[in-house]
Amino acid sequence: MREILLMSNNWYYNKEYQEGMEKSGSLEGFEKVNLPHTNVELPYNYFNEEDFQIVSCYKYPLDLKEEYKDRIVYVHFEGVMAYAKVYLNGEFIGEHKGGYTPFDIRIDPYYDWSSSNNILTVVVDSSERSDIPPFGGQIDYLTYGGIYRDVSLGVYDDIFISNIKIETPDVLEDKKKVHVKVWVDNINSHTCDLDFEIKINEYQGEEVYKGSFKGSIEETKKTFEFDIDNLEGIKLWDIDNPNLYEMSVTVTGGDFSDEYRDRFGFRKAEFTPKGFFLNGKHVKIRGLNRHQAFPYVGYAMPKRVQEKDADILKNDLHLNLVRTSHYPQSKHFLNKCDEIGLLVFEEIPGWQHIGDDEWKEVVKQNVEEMIVRDWNHPSIILWGVRINESQDDDELYTATNAIARSLDSTRQTGGVRYITGSNMLEDVYTMNDFIHDGVRGPLRKQQEVTGLDHDVPYMVTEYNGHMYPTKRFDQEERQMEHSLRHLRVQNASYLDDSISGAIGWVAFDYNTHKDFGAGDRICYHGVMDMFRIHKFAAYAYKSQVSPEVEPVLQPVTFWTRGERSIGGVLPLVIFTNCDYIDFQYGDFEPIRKIYPDRQTYAGIPYPPVVIDLSVLDEKMLGLWGMKWEDAVIRGYYKGEVVIEKRFTKAPVPTELYVEADDTELVSTQKDATRIVVKILDQCGNILPFIDDIIKIKVDGPARVQGPSEVVVKGGAVGFWIETVNEPGVVNIEITSSVLGKKKITINVK
Ligand code: GAL
Repeated sequence: MREILLMSNNWYYNKEYQEGMEKSGSLEGFEKVNLPHTNVELPYNYFNEEDFQIVSCYKYPLDLKEEYKDRIVYVHFEGVMAYAKVYLNGEFIGEHKGGYTPFDIRIDPYYDWSSSNNILTVVVDSSERSDIPPFGGQIDYLTYGGIYRDVSLGVYDDIFISNIKIETPDVLEDKKKVHVKVWVDNINSHTCDLDFEIKINEYQGEEVYKGSFKGSIEETKKTFEFDIDNLEGIKLWDIDNPNLYEMSVTVTGGDFSDEYRDRFGFRKAEFTPKGFFLNGKHVKIRGLNRHQAFPYVGYAMPKRVQEKDADILKNDLHLNLVRTSHYPQSKHFLNKCDEIGLLVFEEIPGWQHIGDDEWKEVVKQNVEEMIVRDWNHPSIILWGVRINESQDDDELYTATNAIARSLDSTRQTGGVRYITGSNMLEDVYTMNDFIHDGVRGPLRKQQEVTGLDHDVPYMVTEYNGHMYPTKRFDQEERQMEHSLRHLRVQNASYLDDSISGAIGWVAFDYNTHKDFGAGDRICYHGVMDMFRIHKFAAYAYKSQVSPEVEPVLQPVTFWTRGERSIGGVLPLVIFTNCDYIDFQYGDFEPIRKIYPDRQTYAGIPYPPVVIDLSVLDEKMLGLWGMKWEDAVIRGYYKGEVVIEKRFTKAPVPTELYVEADDTELVSTQKDATRIVVKILDQCGNILPFIDDIIKIKVDGPARVQGPSEVVVKGGAVGFWIETVNEPGVVNIEITSSVLGKKKITINVK
């Protein structure tokens, strides 16, 4: 039976690789680090993006148990950016090109059993090597560096299972079927009969199937296929009910055995010329792109933080899909998408540039590595097999499509372009339609884009972004236009049945190269900032959910008389899913029952309420803009007030808001959580122009990622604290220069 041991603690790291380091067993000059690890911790902005493009060296002393002596041992790397060369006791044992896909290196043939100090060395080249995608041209994001995902040790018998693929054909029939492919490795070419046992459980629940199968093997690798049918009482996986199942496949042959487990779901996902269907039901896709990047540590965030992003997208922004732009993302993120019902469009690494033949080989390898890693995730509904926004390259993309289809015939392919009339080699024409500049658009008709005379499966995979970069602390008018551009495109997508849906650019602001963004190495394209704090545009999405799930009411205003050009706050756009709202200004009689603007936004589920001069009371008009007053906006659902928003006419700093996403962390491996700090006024609204300084003091077994003194820019800031392998109580003290201290406690178990 296999044993899998997490190897993410107690690595030794040297930022400066020097030739010959892999030959030496010495750890002098190395610092102890835990994974996920970033090779260089960066400032928030205005840094030199070459700082992390270095060659560094990681070492791990291995002392394997005697009982592993006759077994097969692999080290499994989930992601090393960007080129890894692996050595054991000075001997080169393997390498991997590309930072987003996993790889395994077998170590037992090189292991010295006479020594208790075998040194595994990984030389990590994090430069933008032109032989590895996405590099070779310019790219609008940073790839960071280091062993930024987990590493584990896998100890196996001579016969073991290297992968399984679980397919669920004809899923809409009453009795369900499962088709399983099992890849068996037989390292020393034993000839033997094999017994397979397959079990299916509801995830964390009842067993629904158990069966045995026979086989035999003599070759070093063999694939087996099994069919299971007549399963009763199976629940489908979908967005609202993401029912998961777990399969266990056990193989026994001679003295050898192994068990492989994976989760899956029963669901059917299909893009058609008439839109997208999940389990036969039409679903309009409403999504955002996500970069897996964070301030200071880049990509190197542990499980909990990866999961939190999925949670934000699904349960805060109420999206139904995320595109993993522009590369395969953390398995923890994808697992969470499975668990909460967030659809995923996953794609290979790349950005516009296509390299030479050697480079293209890595592209093909990336397609394969992505698909064999992720094919059992029910959340993934489409494989992206083009370099994002590259020109047509029929030879390359015929090959990537063929690889995807032969590995996984159950999913369609897409390939993101921004060019029109591109050759339709994929199953879905996935288009970055940036036509909307405030006037044109908001979207093109698909045939105008594809150049075809008939409709095909079609999805918009980006819009907005660089067309209207907007900071969380930008001027109110700009933020209104930013929000409305997102809303207009979504509305257009909803109105066009031949568009499967639209995925906006982008969920979160992200660090980038000097050639992009605001010059400070940030692209402020998010509907949330890098700390995942909402801009107004976030509410254009958040409000598109039933008030039964969560009532939403967010006026796009800082509520002040002179922030906008000429003054006032009109037109006042209020993102809400309420039936109607009441608006009260100062002591005036409230204006009752103002309804959403269904005329302008006939497509989206929940249009905003827009208050302009046609809505305001005559008397109120006289005062409007002369003297500022408090306001109350109340949202109604089924005749009852379900949400209320208050504004004060004279905001002052009143509350230091400090909240952690989690109050319990673990010490067994690196863990982290976000803490958000806001300076609020008397009504609980962020003071949008306060730039307070806060000091962060951490007492106990944790550390702050990034600096411990930060500016509360535009009234809010976030930071993450990470654990350091010790249990205990962590006291965090936040000191604001205007509002004093606040303490929170986190338990590390
Ligand atoms: C697209 C690109 C994205 C991002 C975006 C900014 O062209 O695919 O990665 O750069 O523009 O709007």
